[in-house]
Amino acid sequence: MFFAVSDLDQARSYKLMSSCVVPRPIAWVVTKNRDEGLNAAPYSLFNFFGGHPPVVCMGMGRPDGKDKDSLENIRNRKEFVVNMVPEGLAEAMNTTATPYDYGIRELDIAGLSTLPCEFIDCRRILASPVAFECKLAQIVDIRPSSAMVMATVVGIHVDAAAVVNEERCYVDAARLGLIGRMESPGWYARTHERFRIKQIMKKPVPDDAEAGGA
Ligand SMILES: Cc1cc2nc3c(=O)[nH]c(=O)nc-3n(C[C@H](O)[C@H](O)[C@H](O)COP(=O)(O)O)c2cc1C
Repeated sequence: MFFAVSDLDQARSYKLMSSCVVPRPIAWVVTKNRDEGLNAAPYSLFNFFGGHPPVVCMGMGRPDGKDKDSLENIRNRKEFVVNMVPEGLAEAMNTTATPYDYGIRELDIAGLSTLPCEFIDCRRILASPVAFECKLAQIVDIRPSSAMVMATVVGIHVDAAAVVNEERCYVDAARLGLIGRMESPGWYARTHERFRIKQIMKKPVPDDAEAGGA
């Protein structure tokens, strides 16, 4: 079937996109409020776009043309933590997606403890096996509906139980047990099940015979 986007309303085009771009990694974003309290919320319009320095991007909706709390805090503080979500924290992550009023501490409601960061003035979720300390690079406002947040990762925390070779930075991702978001609402995928194909590192050299001989 073909859908012309111009024929769709916001809900329909979001449904098509979020059902077809799957699974999406979930950035569980912790920011500091104006009163120094912590805010947490999941964002699955998320990925990384460069290895060194690592750059992450997130799409944040602006319901009724207003920033969500995470976006407001990122504009103010210019730093935040992206925690990755393992299956065991799925319910807690979902709790922090509740649209509470500004200043309500979702992490306390979800019963989650935090730890200080190394390079930024924020905290990370203790039970999350991966946390990225991020500094804001740019916000692209796609007014009125959304904004794209681009940030540089300045520190990476990984659960030592998943680090197979520290020197070579080899992580066994299956041990992280992370989940991805599928179609909304409520569907998720596990990432520990996988298959492998041989990676092609070099341009293939054409066989003489196949290339028509010498
Ligand atoms: C798994 C999951 C992924 C989500 N991804 C996004 C997203 O990418 N962009 C967005 O604007 N909202 C997303 N949401 C909704 C926000 O988490 C929700 O609006 C939340 O209340 C925002 O909180 P905040 O105002 O504290 O930032 C997602 C919700 C869930 C459960």
